[in-house]
Amino acid sequence: MQQLKTISENINLSNKNIFLRVDFNCPIEKSTITDDTKIIKMKSIISDFLKKNAKLILCSHLGRPQKKGKDGLSFKPLVQSIEKILDQKLTFIEDFLNASTKDKIKSSENKIFLLENIRFFKEEEANDKNFGKQLASLADIYVNEAFSCSHRAHASVSAITSYLDSYAGKTIVDELNSLNKIFDSKSGATMCIIGGSKISTKIDLILNLIPKAKYLVIGGAMGNNFIKHNKFNIGKSLYEENKDKLITEIINKAKQSNCELITPVDVVVSENMNTKGETKNLNEISENDIIFDIGSKTSQKIKSAIDKTKMVLWNGPLGLFEKDYFLHGTKQVAEYIKMKTRNKSLVSVAGGGDTAAAIKKSNCLDGFSYISTAGGAFLEWLEGKTLPGLKVLEK
Ligand code: 3PG
Repeated sequence: MQQLKTISENINLSNKNIFLRVDFNCPIEKSTITDDTKIIKMKSIISDFLKKNAKLILCSHLGRPQKKGKDGLSFKPLVQSIEKILDQKLTFIEDFLNASTKDKIKSSENKIFLLENIRFFKEEEANDKNFGKQLASLADIYVNEAFSCSHRAHASVSAITSYLDSYAGKTIVDELNSLNKIFDSKSGATMCIIGGSKISTKIDLILNLIPKAKYLVIGGAMGNNFIKHNKFNIGKSLYEENKDKLITEIINKAKQSNCELITPVDVVVSENMNTKGETKNLNEISENDIIFDIGSKTSQKIKSAIDKTKMVLWNGPLGLFEKDYFLHGTKQVAEYIKMKTRNKSLVSVAGGGDTAAAIKKSNCLDGFSYISTAGGAFLEWLEGKTLPGLKVLEK
């Protein structure tokens, strides 16, 4: 397991400027934050640092301004909303790359400073050393609380750590502990549930998970590829073309690793996404059908396998959960995991992409041991890749 430097209780933070890399990259519509989960997560972290009499320089990116332009991506109009969510007063600093900033922060009465969107500077994504040094010059200590950004070799995640004492924050430690627990063979058998639409984007993930899992459930549109591979008609359903070789690779690896593959045995179909569907066995799917969800025999099969496991990892919804008609399969499985997690017979971790949204819609957010807010970083970690932002924090 990767050993990271973490802030121990005995490091004196009093009167120190802490450069806190956070992830406030939230969805925004017309200057309104529409999902504040990532900011809420920082509330207790920030108040813990303040109790230690530290000053905080919050740094985050928002969107992709170098590709799409800066319009609508400044933190300036969001300051009041962020203050409200954190229940703290913030001082926004737009122009912070000058020698006097550190002293100004030190001598200020204020405790929390928010930098402008760090991706407004092209040097950020270039992981520019000088830029990292300039950022470091604002603070005495660096703490990364943004696991979700640690797959990016960017200056505020990587280069800066060459110039400051740097540590992994509590949320990174919590995330890694939860993920490692899932794959600790002493914890008991693991089920991985992988949904989503494209097998080609999940192949590294699937191949890396197979040797670690007793059961691998494949749902979502990826499941359609397996149904078709097994020579059933999938009508007009979404699937990825020319992926039979990948599917054979998955099936063979699962056999070798003694991992049972669970793919749909029945499905919910409709002629369009706005019309209620009907459940069909695989041999009943007709030319005009579109598969939008797993059927109840499939969810029952998943539940029976969950009974034989101690750990569940979930990435990707099992159906078109955004439409109420097709939430059922995902909800059935989420509710079962919630029930088993609550009665302490299961440890459950979910994350990436739409998964948290699907679990939220199933009213099961409070029923998982851990839900990651990370997308790309969560997947890359599960694929077995070394995350550059964690590599620089190794002991
Ligand atoms: C995320 O939302 O997953 C993180 O903020 C990373 O964002 P990025 O994909 O733009 O680097």
